Amino acid sequence: MDERLQRYVTELFAVEDPVLTAIRERHTEAGLPPIHISADEGKLLLLLLRALEATTVLELGSLGGYSGVWIARALPPHGRLTTIERDPRHAAIARQAFNEAGLSPRVRLIEGAALDVLPTLAPGFDAIFVDADKEPLAQYYDWSMRLLRPGGLLLCDNAFFHGAAVDPADATPAAQGVRAFNRLAADDPRLVATVVPVRDGLLIGLKVAE
Ligand code: DHB
Ligand code: MG
Repeated sequence: MDERLQRYVTELFAVEDPVLTAIRERHTEAGLPPIHISADEGKLLLLLLRALEATTVLELGSLGGYSGVWIARALPPHGRLTTIERDPRHAAIARQAFNEAGLSPRVRLIEGAALDVLPTLAPGFDAIFVDADKEPLAQYYDWSMRLLRPGGLLLCDNAFFHGAAVDPADATPAAQGVRAFNRLAADDPRLVATVVPVRDGLLIGLKVAE
């Protein structure tokens, strides 16, 4: 999206409260990679989860907890965000973010590699937000479809991957992973899916059949 238009939407619809701003600023100060979602993307996640009346959400890739705060805020007090993070330093910063936002009772952060953790989880999530490393995305797709309840939402960040999605010359494992995930979602008869051009592309899919 054009940067000026993104700013326009964000200033109208996705103004951060001081808690979110502090979490984002600490993320930057801690030297975490500057790849967290944007506020307008966070607002879209919140809106979708509210529309679904989601109570259980799974996130792959907590990073510093910025997206997790947007997601957990969409849930009712008895709701539960399960978020997986491989990097212990990122996990510590994410935990601090959930504490500061008063959301710790609603969040279960599991430290470990997603492919080790996913087989230990019970199915039935209302929504799954995939925002982790890109190379294993085809495997993340299969696990997500297994763990998502019928009627649930599959959400995946970086569907465009800075344009690599449409650059056949980019044969990096990450670009191949993104293209594989998009293709799987597009072709799967169990899913009604599209990509919304917010930030780096957000894939949204509704699971309509088991
Ligand atoms: C990048 C951006 C992301 O949002 C992400 O989840 C992973 C990588 C990137 O810009 O490389
Ligand atoms: Mg991302």
